[in-house]
Amino acid sequence: MLSGRRILLIISGGIAAYKSLDLIRRLREQGAAVRCVLTESATQFVTPLSVAALSEHKVYQDLFSLTDEAEMGHIRLSREADLVVVAPASANLIAKMACGLADDLASTALLATDKPVLIAPAMNVFMWNHPATQGNVAALAARGVHRVGPGAGELACGEVGEGRMADVPEIMAAIGRLIGVLPPEAKPLAGRRAIVTSGPTHEPIDPVRFIANRSSGKQGHAVAAALHRLGAEVTLVSGPVTLPPPEGVEIVPVETAAQMLEACLAALPADIAVCAAAVADWRVSNPGAQKHKKTEGGGPPTIALTPNPDILATLSQPGELRPALVVGFAAETELLLQHASAKLARKGCDWIVANDVSPASGTFGGDQNAVHLLTPDTVEAWPRMGKELVAERLAERIAAHFAKPHPTTSEVPA
Ligand code: C5P
Repeated sequence: MLSGRRILLIISGGIAAYKSLDLIRRLREQGAAVRCVLTESATQFVTPLSVAALSEHKVYQDLFSLTDEAEMGHIRLSREADLVVVAPASANLIAKMACGLADDLASTALLATDKPVLIAPAMNVFMWNHPATQGNVAALAARGVHRVGPGAGELACGEVGEGRMADVPEIMAAIGRLIGVLPPEAKPLAGRRAIVTSGPTHEPIDPVRFIANRSSGKQGHAVAAALHRLGAEVTLVSGPVTLPPPEGVEIVPVETAAQMLEACLAALPADIAVCAAAVADWRVSNPGAQKHKKTEGGGPPTIALTPNPDILATLSQPGELRPALVVGFAAETELLLQHASAKLARKGCDWIVANDVSPASGTFGGDQNAVHLLTPDTVEAWPRMGKELVAERLAERIAAHFAKPHPTTSEVPA
């Protein structure tokens, strides 16, 4: 999509610089030529060697390097690009841009360029909210500098709030729009309805106790948000979680598996169903109407269990209301692919996102996920990445699935 396009990527110092390595990879995958400039502090977070290896080109760092200037001066560097992307854009570099300072290669190239500039700010929430930064960002916006993010969430410094660098797919989409290869707001899932399940279920034992699991809902909520960003109308049926509901998504809070199934069926018809919830397999057959009490000399109560309905399998059943694409998740602690492909067949869904949730993987409750995408005839191993990125990629794959022309009756082989 970006074949023949030239991007000058300026990486400034910030923990989010690691995401820029993935950005380079995605830009290269799409055929863009990428030249990279690192500020001095950026080299504390990513090495020039890894940036050079991924961009398949020399990395530029010094304003006063005789070899750099002879080969490619800072003026040419800044002009021979279709777009200049600053990711991460630190508070310091944003301030220098706003003031027109030019005391290193990055700031000089930014002052010398005559090309559109896109910044992806990344910093601590207080630094972002500081009137100085906000004033600088407003000054840049008034000068026509484009911006993507920052988003809100848990920051690398441990604080929570706005300041997270936009995720790579968001930056890629912004680049696509600025370069003109994507329409101003690409919404490939506009007009599609999606149901997403997320979080754990709570199955009551008595009015104060319940059976639950460690699901945080992060992955399911991120999928709902990503589908919404691509234009889908999303109903998120969520078990009890502490996450805020994603913007623009209809949320149906539930507690038990039975309620989750009922809410999903009520949300039909839909084009897409993504079952990311960790639904309890069993519920208590006869939950106590009152709190179970310890009795003198009495033993513990016996809890009988009944199987819960399988929401994914129910939504996958053939019929008029079956969503055109049903995606399940398989959380496994061993024999990941074996169990996941068996699950694909057993549940009757179209795709399975398989993830390793063994305690060593840190997936449950964590921010990272390493998944495989299984379809009836393919298995793709995705690199370890943030749950938001997994969600973005999955949403992109879903959009691509719906964009593909489906065979008409006459094209279906006899
Ligand atoms: O059978 P297992 O729980 O491993 O299957 C996981 C997949 O099935 C997930 O997509 C999960 O959301 C879904 N599921 C469901 N209803 C259940 C159990 C699992 O929708 N009762």
